[in-house]
Amino acid sequence: MRGHFITLEGIEGAGKTTQRTAVADWLRAAGLTVLVTREPGGSEIAERIRSLLLDPANTGMHPDTELLLMFAARAEHLRRRILPALAAGTWVVCDRFTDATYAYQGGGRGVPMARIAALEQLVQGERRPDLTLLLDLPAAVGLARARGRSAPDRFESEQIQFFERVRDAYCKRAAAEPGRFRRIDAAREPATVAADSLAAVAAYLTQVRAGPGAQGADR
Ligand SMILES: Nc1ncnc2c1ncn2[C@@H]1O[C@H](COP(=O)(O)OP(=O)(O)OP(=O)(O)O)[C@@H](O)[C@H]1O
Ligand SMILES: [Mg+2]
Repeated sequence: MRGHFITLEGIEGAGKTTQRTAVADWLRAAGLTVLVTREPGGSEIAERIRSLLLDPANTGMHPDTELLLMFAARAEHLRRRILPALAAGTWVVCDRFTDATYAYQGGGRGVPMARIAALEQLVQGERRPDLTLLLDLPAAVGLARARGRSAPDRFESEQIQFFERVRDAYCKRAAAEPGRFRRIDAAREPATVAADSLAAVAAYLTQVRAGPGAQGADR
């Protein structure tokens, strides 16, 4: 079976990193090989670009610079880690991917979505996640969780209205692509959120195993 590409999305404090562990553990228990990774970052050069992107000292970064750095990091991460893993039959569980670029740089910063789509095509070709869990919750709830954790990074330093726009952009994307997205109410208890996340992944795995590609003939 080819590897499948699962992404976790949502605003700060939604529980992506928490659920990522639960999802990866569940897939491993189901007998699959799993690579757990994150964006921005996930490879040596991409992690260095991440530092530039998150450093709160980099005030006044132009939104286009931010956008290009996101896709520069993604180009590295995709080629060095994600694509080789998928080709080897490894399932990839990634904390944020291009939906985050549409949500943050598009929804949050107001970069035209068409500009993001052009870079998505340039960097990824036709490659998209197979399954995306959107951990959705009110911005105030997510920020309260995230801010209890460490000094705010460049994104966490934004105002609440920014995160409301990000959330809205995520929800619009999920509604537009119901085949790929599963929207999960992430404002509930961690165990309840995990139960829904794992149910979505289990249903997806059942579908993959039953599908026409189950014998290894898929894309
Ligand atoms: N369902 C939940 N209810 C309450 N607290 C939670 C829940 N899920 C995660 N948390 C806690 O909230 C904080 C943020 O969770 P986590 O780091 O998983 O979020 P995240 O989406 O990865 O955030 P970021 O985008 O900032 O990396 C952590 O301290 C975590 O333990
Ligand atoms: Mg996280």
